Amino acid sequence: MVDLDEPFLQNVLELLPVGVITVGACDHRIQELNSRALRMIGTCRDEVVGRVCHGVICPAEAGRCPITDLGQTVDLSERVLLGADGHRVPVLKSAFAIPKNGEMLLIESFVDIRSLKEAEQQITRAREAAEAANRAKSAFLANMSHELRTPLTAILGYCEMLQEQAAELGATDFLSDLQKVHDAGRQLFAVIGDVLDISRIEAGKMDIAVEPVEISCMIADAVSTMEPAARKNGNRLLVRSGDGLGVMQADAVRFRQSLLNLLANACKFTRDGLVTLEVSRSNGGGERWIEWRVEDTGIGIAPEKLERLFQPFSQGDSSTTRRYGGTGLGLAISQRLCQAMGGDITASSEPGKGSTFTIRMPAGS
Ligand SMILES: Nc1ncnc2c1ncn2[C@@H]1O[C@H](COP(=O)(O)OP(=O)(O)OP(=O)(O)O)[C@@H](O)[C@H]1O
Ligand SMILES: [Mg+2]
Repeated sequence: MVDLDEPFLQNVLELLPVGVITVGACDHRIQELNSRALRMIGTCRDEVVGRVCHGVICPAEAGRCPITDLGQTVDLSERVLLGADGHRVPVLKSAFAIPKNGEMLLIESFVDIRSLKEAEQQITRAREAAEAANRAKSAFLANMSHELRTPLTAILGYCEMLQEQAAELGATDFLSDLQKVHDAGRQLFAVIGDVLDISRIEAGKMDIAVEPVEISCMIADAVSTMEPAARKNGNRLLVRSGDGLGVMQADAVRFRQSLLNLLANACKFTRDGLVTLEVSRSNGGGERWIEWRVEDTGIGIAPEKLERLFQPFSQGDSSTTRRYGGTGLGLAISQRLCQAMGGDITASSEPGKGSTFTIRMPAGS
C-alpha cells in the first residue's frame, strides 16, 4: 500500500502529464497549481496564484460555473485555457469540489487536446472535400446524361422514320437490322435515364410530388405493362389484392417506376415460374401503410448479395450481368425514391427458391 502523505502526493502531482489547479469554491481564486499547469499557461506561479480562475480557464464562464453555480457534482467538458501571452489552448477539463480545512475547494485538472482538435478539423476538411467531389461527380453525371439523351432521342426518332419508310418501300431486308438499332437505342436510353436518376438523387435534386394515388389503377397499369415481360420468360403474373384499397400517398410516376423495376426483376430472374403481386393494408410504428409485395419463384439471392442489394451498380456477379443485362441501378433508385416518398423497400430471399421484395408506402388515411 502506498503511503499517501502530502509530499508524496505533491510528487505525483508534479509528475502527472495533466495540469492541476485548486480553486476556492467561494471566491473562485486560484490557490495552487502544478508545474504542468504553469507550463501550459506559460507564466510563473506568483502571476497565477490569487487570480480569479475565469481569467485563466473557462473565460467568460463567470457566474456559470457548473459546480458552484449550476449544481453539478462533477464537470467533465471541453474548455479553453488562456495562456499568459493571450494564446488559447483547447483542453479537456474535469472539476469537482472537495472540503479542506473548513472551506470548499475546486480541484480542476486538464489535458491539452490541441492535436485531437487539429485531427478533428482535418477529418472535417477531408469529409467536406470528399462530399464536394461527390457532388461534382453527381452534377457531371447529371449534365452528361442529359446531354446524351437529346441526340439519342433524335437517333431513335430517325430510326423509327427509317423503319416506316423501309416498310413502305418493301425493303424488308433492312427491317430487322433497323429493329436491332432501335432496341439498342432504347436500352441505352434506359441506362442513361437510370444514371441521370441516381445522380439527381445523390445530388439531392430529385423532385418528388406526393399526392393521393388510386391503388387499383396503379395495379392494373403495372400488370398490363409487365404482362409481355412475364410471358417472355414463360412466367405467370398473378395479382392478389383486397377490394376497396382506396388511395395511398405517393408520387405516381416515381412509384410506378419503382414497382415496375421490382416486377421487371422478378420476371427477369424467374423462368417458367410464378410472379405474384400482392397489395394489402397494414399498420406499423403508429402509421397506416400500403404494402406491395412482389414475390417470385426464381433464382433467388445469396445472403451476402442481399446485404448490398440496394447499393448503386450492385449486381450478382459478372455472370449475372452477362446473362441478364442491366446496370444494377434499378433497386438503388427504387429504394431511394420510395424513401423520399416516406416509404421503403425491403427484400428477403432464398437462393434457388425465389425472392420477395416489399414496398411500404404511407396510406395517408
Ligand atoms: N427478383 C430477383 N431475383 C433474383 N435476383 C434479383 C432479383 N431482383 C434483383 N436481383 C439481383 O439484384 C441485382 C440488382 O438489381 P437491380 O434491379 O438494381 O439491377 P439490375 O436489374 O441488374 O439492372 P437494372 O435494374 O439497372 O436494369 C440484380 O442484378 C440481381 O442480381
Ligand atoms: Mg432491375
